[in-house]
Amino acid sequence: MIEVIQADITTLDGVLAVDAIVNAANESLLGGGGVDGAIHCAAGPELLAACRALGGCPTGEARITPGFRLPARWVIHTVGPVWHGGTRHEAECLAACYRNSFELALQHGLRSIAFPAIGTGVYGYPKRQAASIAMAAMREFSPRFARIIACCHGEEDLRIYRELLALG
Ligand code: APR
Repeated sequence: MIEVIQADITTLDGVLAVDAIVNAANESLLGGGGVDGAIHCAAGPELLAACRALGGCPTGEARITPGFRLPARWVIHTVGPVWHGGTRHEAECLAACYRNSFELALQHGLRSIAFPAIGTGVYGYPKRQAASIAMAAMREFSPRFARIIACCHGEEDLRIYRELLALG
C-alpha cells in the first residue's frame, strides 16, 4: 500500500511504523544539509561513524545502516542525481535510487519504507518529474511491501504526490 503524508521523516515510526527511512545523501555519505542533515542530527554520531565505514556511495546506488537514535531501525542512504536540465540521464539515475533502495530493503527482509522526495532540494530535480519517477517505482514495488510511504516535507510536494497517487 502506498501512503502520502506530510511529516519530518526523522520522526517516523511514531504512529506510522516503518522499518526503514531513506536518506537523500551525497556520494561521501558524510552528511550534509536538508534531509541528510536532519537524519544525521536525529540518529546521532554513531550514524556518521557507520557511514564513514561504508566508504561512500555512487550516485544512483543505495547503502544501509542501522538507525541508531532514530525511531526507524534502518536508514537506507541513496544518492540522487544533480539536476543538469535532464541531459545527463538524471531520470534513469533517480529511478535507480528508488529501485536500489527497494531492493536493498527486500534483501534485509524489510516490509515498510519511507522516502523523502530524493533529489528535489539541493540537487534541484524538478518536483513533479521527480515525483512521477518516485510514484512509478513505488507502484512497481508495492506488491512486495506492507507499507510504502512518500514522506513529503512541504505543501507543494504533498499536493503533487497526492495528485499522482489519485491518478492510479
Ligand atoms: N523530512 C522529510 N523530507 C525532508 C526533510 C525532512 N526532515 N528535510 C528536507 N526534506 C525534503 C526537502 O524538502 C526535499 O523535498 O527532502 C527533499 C530532498 O531535498 P534535500 O535534502 O536537499 O536532498 P537532495 O535534493 O537529494 O540533495 C542532496 O543535499 O543535504 C545535502 O548531503 C546532501 O549533498 C546532499 C544533497
